[in-house]
Parts: sequence; structure tokens; C-alpha cells
Amino acid sequence: MKKSLWILVLLVSMGVILIGLMAQEFTYVGVNKCKICHKAEKRGNQYGKWLEGPHSKAFEALKSDKAAEIAKKAGVTTPPTESAECLECHSPYASSAPEFKEEGVGCEACHGPGSGYKSLKAMKDRNLAVEKGLVLLDTDAKKEALCTKCHKADHKYHEIKPFNLQEFWSKIEHKKPAE
Ligand code: HEC
Ligand code: HEC
Ligand code: HEC
Ligand code: HEC
Repeated sequence: MKKSLWILVLLVSMGVILIGLMAQEFTYVGVNKCKICHKAEKRGNQYGKWLEGPHSKAFEALKSDKAAEIAKKAGVTTPPTESAECLECHSPYASSAPEFKEEGVGCEACHGPGSGYKSLKAMKDRNLAVEKGLVLLDTDAKKEALCTKCHKADHKYHEIKPFNLQEFWSKIEHKKPAE
């Protein structure tokens, strides 16, 4: 092969690697970062609603006797708080961001890792936020697809309430009040 062709091949493969790295640039920042701007009542106090709701307790739930029993039945031999089988739904970014493991199902489990979109500039511009990793959940179909990743009917390890979007969403809804 000609030298120029080799250079071309090299450049193309470097480009591919770079794109790969860019696609993974967004990382988890933890609920306390979101809290700074999302705890005011006039903005909907999403942080407070999450804290009172079930998802902030999802990791804690793995410490109970009930959890130990479920794990035993399932043949999971490590403690539930250390087991990928349980963390998958009870603390979905435990492996990529162990420092936020105790958050359970934090904001970013649903909205996407926030390192890129958490700036005020991105947050005030929906298109920019999406470009920076915000996951839009603006249709019932998108919501349903997200929720049923964990609230799935054919659950391997334990009984689970049948999922109904309207009913379940009404329990964790955290809208900004109309101005
Ligand atoms: C610097 C302040 C700030 C931080 C930090 C911040 N936000 Fe926001 N966010 C805003 C503002 C301002 C809006 C626009 C809506 C409003 O006025 O409440 C917004 C809007 C949003 C929306 C609605 C987007 C849309 O257009 O549908 C979501 C979802 C959201 N934020 C999630 C998060 C999450 C998750 C985090 C943490 C990773 C976070 N935000 C951190 C200020 C912030
Ligand atoms: C596919 C997702 C998923 C997996 C995997 C999973 N869970 Fe759950 N778990 C849930 C959901 C969703 C609930 C909420 C209960 C409901 O809706 O009925 C829950 C509820 C629980 C509860 C009851 C919490 C409470 O507050 O009463 C315990 C305990 C529990 N899970 C333990 C475990 C253990 C232990 C494992 C691993 C062996 C595990 N779960 C794996 C999704 C999951
Ligand atoms: C990453 C996994 C995950 C996702 C995604 C998820 N959940 Fe959950 N959810 C859980 C777990 C785990 C629990 C149990 C927490 C506990 O009881 O400790 C739970 C509990 C709940 C509960 C309380 C159920 C009860 O016992 O009454 C409601 C309501 C709920 N989720 C609604 C939703 C909705 C609506 C969505 C989608 C917008 C959603 N969840 C997405 C994991 C998830
Ligand atoms: C279980 C999944 C889930 C979790 C956890 C979650 N959200 Fe949301 N959030 C949603 C969904 C679904 C919507 C509705 C989006 C829509 O209808 O456009 C939403 C909407 C929002 C909005 C837009 C409100 C509005 O009316 O403009 C903000 C802001 C927001 N979430 C911030 C947060 C913050 C901050 C946290 C953590 C403290 C959080 N969310 C945790 C699923 C979740």
C-alpha cells in the first residue's frame, strides 16, 4: 500500500476512537448537584419529591431482612447491596459511579448522566441540554419504556406490583407549577 493510504487509514481510525470517547463523555454527578437548583417550591421542588418518594429508598431497601430472604431464594450468595443482580434496578449507576451508590434510583437514572447538561446555560435551552446528554421523557411511550426497564412484569427475583403508567406516575410526578 502507498504511504499516503496508510496515513489515511491511521487518521480514520483515530477519528473513530475520538468519536467513541466523545460518546462516553457524560458522567454521573449525583443528586446533590441537581438539588442546588431543583429544590425551590416555585420550580416544583423535584428534589424534595424524590427524597420523600420510593426511589430514594431503593438502595436502603436492599439492607432489609426481606431483601436477604429474596436474595437467598434467588441463589444470590453475595449481600444484596453488593450484588449486580439487585443493583441493576435498586441502584442502576452503582458500578459506573460507586460514590453515588446509596442514592438508589437517583435523578440521573431517569434523566441521564448530568455532567454535560447541569450547567444553567444548558438547562435553560432544551436542545442544548439534550445534546449534552439529557434524556427527554416527554411522551407516554418514552416514560413507559423507561419505567418498565425495572417495573417489569416478568421479574426474576421477587413479586412486583403490575405496572400502570398513570397510577405509578401520579405517585412520583414532579412537575414545575404553572407560572
Ligand atoms: C444551575 C442550576 C441547575 C442545575 C445544577 C440543574 N438544573 Fe435542571 N433545570 C434548571 C433550570 C433553570 C431548568 C428550566 C426549568 C425551570 O425553570 O425549572 C431546568 C430544567 C430541567 C429539566 C426539564 C428539561 C426539559 O426541558 O424538559 C430536567 C429534566 C432537569 N432540569 C433535570 C436536572 C437534573 C437531573 C440535574 C442534575 C444532574 C439538574 N437538572 C441540575 C436548572 C438546573
Ligand atoms: C428488574 C428490576 C429489579 C431487580 C433486578 C430487583 N428488584 Fe427489588 N424491586 C424492584 C421494584 C420495581 C420494586 C418495587 C416494588 C413493586 O412495585 O412491587 C422492588 C422492591 C423490592 C423490595 C421491597 C422494598 C420495600 O420498600 O418494601 C425488596 C426488599 C427488594 N426489591 C429486594 C430485591 C433484591 C434482594 C434483589 C436482588 C436479588 C432485587 N430486589 C432485584 C425492582 C427490582
Ligand atoms: C432503575 C430502576 C427503576 C426505574 C427506571 C423506575 N423505577 Fe420505580 N422503583 C424502582 C425500585 C427499585 C422501587 C422500590 C423502591 C423501594 O420500595 O424501596 C420503585 C418503586 C416505585 C414506586 C412505588 C411502588 C409501590 O410500592 O407502591 C412507584 C410509584 C414507582 N417506582 C414509579 C416509577 C415510575 C412512574 C417510573 C418511570 C417514570 C419508574 N418508577 C422508574 C426502580 C425503578
Ligand atoms: C423514575 C424516574 C425519574 C426520577 C428518579 C426523576 N425524574 Fe424527573 N422526570 C421524570 C419524568 C418521566 C418526567 C416527565 C417528563 C415530561 O413529561 O416531559 C420528569 C420531569 C422532570 C422535570 C421537568 C418538570 C417540568 O414540569 O418542567 C424536572 C425539572 C425533573 N424531572 C427533575 C428531576 C430531578 C432534579 C430529579 C432528582 C431529584 C428527578 N427529576 C428524578 C422521571 C424521573
